[in-house]
Amino acid sequence: MVLLFYWVVKQAFQGKFSPGSVLLLVQSLTYFQQNLAAFVGNGLELWENVLYMQQFFNFLDSASSMLLTVPGEKTPSPILTGITFENVYFRYPDAQAWAVKNISFTLHPGETVAIVGENGAGKTTIIKLLTRLYDPTQGRILVDGVDLKHLNLQEWRQQIAGVFQDFGRYALTLGENIALSNLQALENRDLLRFAIERADIIQLVTQFPTGEDTPLGKQFSGTELSGGQWQKLALARAFVRQQAQILLLDEPTAALDPRSEYELYQRFVELAQGKTTILITHRLASVRMAQRILVLKAGQLIEDGTHQELLSHGGEYTTLWNMQIRQYGEYFKIQN
Ligand SMILES: Nc1ncnc2c1ncn2[C@@H]1O[C@H](COP(=O)(O)OP(=O)(O)OP(=O)(O)O)[C@@H](O)[C@H]1O
Ligand SMILES: [Mg+2]
Repeated sequence: MVLLFYWVVKQAFQGKFSPGSVLLLVQSLTYFQQNLAAFVGNGLELWENVLYMQQFFNFLDSASSMLLTVPGEKTPSPILTGITFENVYFRYPDAQAWAVKNISFTLHPGETVAIVGENGAGKTTIIKLLTRLYDPTQGRILVDGVDLKHLNLQEWRQQIAGVFQDFGRYALTLGENIALSNLQALENRDLLRFAIERADIIQLVTQFPTGEDTPLGKQFSGTELSGGQWQKLALARAFVRQQAQILLLDEPTAALDPRSEYELYQRFVELAQGKTTILITHRLASVRMAQRILVLKAGQLIEDGTHQELLSHGGEYTTLWNMQIRQYGEYFKIQN
């Protein structure tokens, strides 16, 4: 640009260009420069989009790793002997390490089992295997003796209600957010109210002039809820799914204040009535609602028993328990 400008000015001084031509040339050069920059910019943007589209098409082309048995066997209702993990190993696609290794245990019908363990121990992975978001790499999961892979997937999932660690927050109305797990609740307002009341959000709902029909989420300028309020909504989603035989609670109160947590645990006991329940939590005090506790460490099941059994055994659970007790103990010491 500098050289071109220099050349134009030089020509003008030599009398070869009229002032009008100089103006025209300088303007043309500026336009040329701007358009060239825009061209390069657009080219780069196009390149980025192509990269994204490549991933998108790869995703569309990717084959399902799930074995879909259609129509598949009927899910036993009720489940009579239980759900059994039989030497289950699982590695996430593209991962090197096992997420869970050689896991074997049985969930008896109607039983509440707690799973505890450090971050990354493999607790959520067990939930993902049970909901058949993934199939075990090795080993089997049996439902009344039938391999989970052979059950009709849709029917199996209808038997499951849950509050998951990464629950969804949907830009829909409050009522729709709950009814997602049982569409009958869209018409059945009594059922919706029942769930709202059980999940302890009745005060929240009545404070909105449009009640259950209040749009939520910022995307479409709805009302934004707090983390804990969203979590209670996810919980209401579990309450509205009454027909499910299996209840999965993966840190269902992580975002709740102590009072809400305490009150909701009373409700969980009620929600878990007659259902086979897995409760995952880091707060060992709440593990007491479980009849049995499984302790996972680095993907392996290292302990299995009641609270008392595990404490007398003096293993990992005892260590975790004493750590939490000590933490509160020290707090009270400071208070006094
Ligand atoms: N989608 C994934 N892809 C690859 N590896 C994963 C994936 N999800 C989890 N993992 C790995 O699997 C292991 C078990 O993870 P998991 O989510 O089951 O742990 P967790 O016990 O639920 O932990 P937390 O208490 O933090 O919820 C971890 O080492 C983690 O790195
Ligand atoms: Mg987890």
